[in-house]
Amino acid sequence: MKLVHKVTALALAVASHAIAENVPIRAKNGMVVSQNDIASQVGVDVLKDGGNAIDAAVATAFALAVTHPSAGNIGGGGFLVFRPAEGEPIAFDFREMAPAKATDTMWLESGEYSYERHHLSHLSVGVPGTVAGLHMAWTEHGSLPWERLVEPAVRLATEGFEVTDGLSRSLDRTMERIGKHAATKAQFTKNGEPYAAGDILKQPDLAATLVRIAEKGVAGFYEGKTAELIEKEMMANGGLITREDLKAYRPKMRAPIRGTYRGYEILSMPPPSSGGIVLVEMLNILERYDIAGDGFGSARNMHRMAEAMRRAYSDRAQYLGDPDFNPDMPIDRLTSKAYADELSKTIRADKASKSSPESFNWPAESPETTHFSVVDSARNGVSVTYTLEYGYGSGIVVPGAGFLLNNEMGDFNGGPGLTNESGLIGTTPNLAAPHKRMLSSMTPTIVAKDGKLLMVTGSPGGRTIINTVLQTILNVVDHGMNAQAAVDAGRIHHQWLPDQIRYEHNGFSPDTLNILTWLGHDLREIGRQGVAQVIVVNHEDDMLEGGLDRRVSGGSVATY
Ligand code: DON
Repeated sequence: MKLVHKVTALALAVASHAIAENVPIRAKNGMVVSQNDIASQVGVDVLKDGGNAIDAAVATAFALAVTHPSAGNIGGGGFLVFRPAEGEPIAFDFREMAPAKATDTMWLESGEYSYERHHLSHLSVGVPGTVAGLHMAWTEHGSLPWERLVEPAVRLATEGFEVTDGLSRSLDRTMERIGKHAATKAQFTKNGEPYAAGDILKQPDLAATLVRIAEKGVAGFYEGKTAELIEKEMMANGGLITREDLKAYRPKMRAPIRGTYRGYEILSMPPPSSGGIVLVEMLNILERYDIAGDGFGSARNMHRMAEAMRRAYSDRAQYLGDPDFNPDMPIDRLTSKAYADELSKTIRADKASKSSPESFNWPAESPETTHFSVVDSARNGVSVTYTLEYGYGSGIVVPGAGFLLNNEMGDFNGGPGLTNESGLIGTTPNLAAPHKRMLSSMTPTIVAKDGKLLMVTGSPGGRTIINTVLQTILNVVDHGMNAQAAVDAGRIHHQWLPDQIRYEHNGFSPDTLNILTWLGHDLREIGRQGVAQVIVVNHEDDMLEGGLDRRVSGGSVATY
């Protein structure tokens, strides 16, 4: 039998296996899905108090900065996509910015690239954006008083909260890296002893910073005492961020990336995230195929997905960076149906393509970020992904200010021309420069149908984020899964280079994986991919259905 026939027969055989669906959590009035149950509840309490989805998102973000310190933050940055029930969708960009003294060679030591400088030193810290971004979203669309939204975080930092088993283990794992910073050790250990599950973690310095933010808004972080403490820490340790850099930080409102997929409207994050463009490019390619008919987990679909991912991630590396520094990015072309036509002609049904190894490669990236999704009773939808980059970021707690600084500068390319087989890229669009934003993969996304909100989705996971979000959408739109099943289903990842499909342990039939190998794909099993937080509006009875990702512990779907 020719390979193609063998493949077809087997693909049909395995495609019909059905997935048992877990039941989603349902609610009428409002829902917050986040990676921390306390923070989800803080958000829903805001909805119950008459706040809207933006209010709830702001309160959830501040609460996560206290109760989920690996990724929740005020010392990092991120993106918020908002689809109001009435009016125009908008994206808020609060990505960190390079300080004024940044250069594209700042991570070289005697001409040699230094991973330590790039990812772990004070030179890895970007000017934080979270507080300014949340404040801007609240100024534009919030309805409750700002203090009301910061207050739960103040209380959690002051009175403390119960350390979960997950947090205790996460802190224990990370302390070896970050415990060398005295303020970090003081904040996240009991005089050097690890916090155990059930202990109460209080963060008084963080509480004081949050009070300044509650009282003074943006100035409570970017000016005055907080700014002074950040500058002092930087000056004492070879960092570059000054009070001027902090004062000059500006979040931005941007037009979301828009696409369509089988008549569904896709809204996602534009540059400096690559997420929206890569997502729409992949969806445009996949729209050409009978994804629903061939079934979840079929070799045909996994092959098509991997080929779409390969092509879109190659474009990501080649073209994308901060739009304020790369005015000529071909965004319209990359997200057009005509371009997807061109690309799909290069995809063979019976054979994997090859990613060119002569081209540049990817740097390592950690999977620590956090996403949360919010929908309110008016069906305003908010999708937020924000991050410190690595888990606990740079690991540097600002002494006296009680919050962790990001290491987001590591998302810039390491230096000009630094392209090599060991995983560095040195292409121009994403080299560091003063006041530039580093390229991201975060993909907070909203799907609508017939003018109505359908789905809010997003995930952490570094470069895997875009593919995780893609698969939650295919699972709902093509495979008819509910929100929980869409989150539970196995995931794959291909990012052009390395030329490899990574698949989740126990997520797919071994027969399917064999077919993919016959097609020429290199396969690698991984433990888990991403932590998606999904809300779907069930239009049959206008109920919200939440999918919580139990790949990690600690999250919840809070409802009202
Ligand atoms: O912006 C980015 O794409 C990365 N800094 C995100 C890091 C990340 O997702 C780590 N996450 N889980």
